[in-house]
Amino acid sequence: MQRDHREQLNLSWQANADAWTAAVREKRIESRRLVTDAAIIQAILALAPKRVLDIGCGEGWLCRGLVEHGIEAVGVDASEPLIAEARKASGSTPKYRICGYAELESQAPQLGRFDVLVCNFALLEEPLAPTLKAMHSLISKDGRLLIQTLHPWRACNDASYRDGWRVETFAGFGEGFSEPMPWFFRTLESWLSLFSETGWRLQWLQEPLHPESEQPVSLLMLLSSENN
Ligand SMILES: C[S@@+](CC[C@H](N)C(=O)[O-])C[C@H]1O[C@@H](n2cnc3c(N)ncnc32)[C@H](O)[C@@H]1O
Repeated sequence: MQRDHREQLNLSWQANADAWTAAVREKRIESRRLVTDAAIIQAILALAPKRVLDIGCGEGWLCRGLVEHGIEAVGVDASEPLIAEARKASGSTPKYRICGYAELESQAPQLGRFDVLVCNFALLEEPLAPTLKAMHSLISKDGRLLIQTLHPWRACNDASYRDGWRVETFAGFGEGFSEPMPWFFRTLESWLSLFSETGWRLQWLQEPLHPESEQPVSLLMLLSSENN
C-alpha cells in the first residue's frame, strides 16, 4: 500500500509539473506569497552559506533566489519535467540534477558537500528515515539542514492528529492538476522522533504566522548533524 502511495506521489509530480510551475511562478499560493517564501529565504541567508543544496527543488524558484544573493545553489528533484522547467528558467547557474531521494547517497560524490541542505515542502513520503540518513553524506562540517513543512496543526484540518497518508487535490491552485498527490501527514512528535532516530539535532523551530489570521502556516526547523 505504501508503495502505491509513493508511486502515485511520484507520478503526480510528473503529471502536474506544468500546472505547479504556473502556480508557483504566478504566485497563486497565498501562504507562499505572504509568509513561507520569505521565511525560508531569510532562514538560509541568516546562516551565510556559500553552497546550498535544494532537495526537492521543483521548478527552481528557491535556487534562483539564492543565486541572486551570491550563493552557489544546486537543486535536485525526481521530476524530470520540473527539472526541465528549472533549467529553462536559468542560465548556467543554478545547477539542477534529476535525482530521487533514494539516489542521494550514491550521488553524493558528484554533488559534493553543502553548508546548507534545504527541503521546502518537499518531504512528503514515508518512510523518510533513509532519506534523512543519506543527507549526512552531503553536509559540510558545521553545515545545517533546514526543513520547512506544513504546520501539523493547520494541515490536520479537523482530521485525526495521527501520522498517516492524506491526499492533496490542489483545489484552488489553478487549472491543470490532473493527478492528486498522496502525502504523509506527520505530527510534531513524529517529526522530532524522526530527527533523533536519524542523527539530526534540532537547533531551533519556528512557526511562521499568517499576517492577518495569525494562524501558523508552516513549521520551519533548523537541524545539525550528530556526525559533526
Ligand atoms: C510541493 S513541491 C515543492 C517544490 C519546491 N521545494 C518549492 O518550494 O516550490 C514538492 C517537490 O518534492 C519533489 N519530490 C517529492 N518526493 C521526491 C522524491 N522522493 N525524490 C525527489 N524529489 C521528490 C517533487 O518532485 C516536487 O518537486
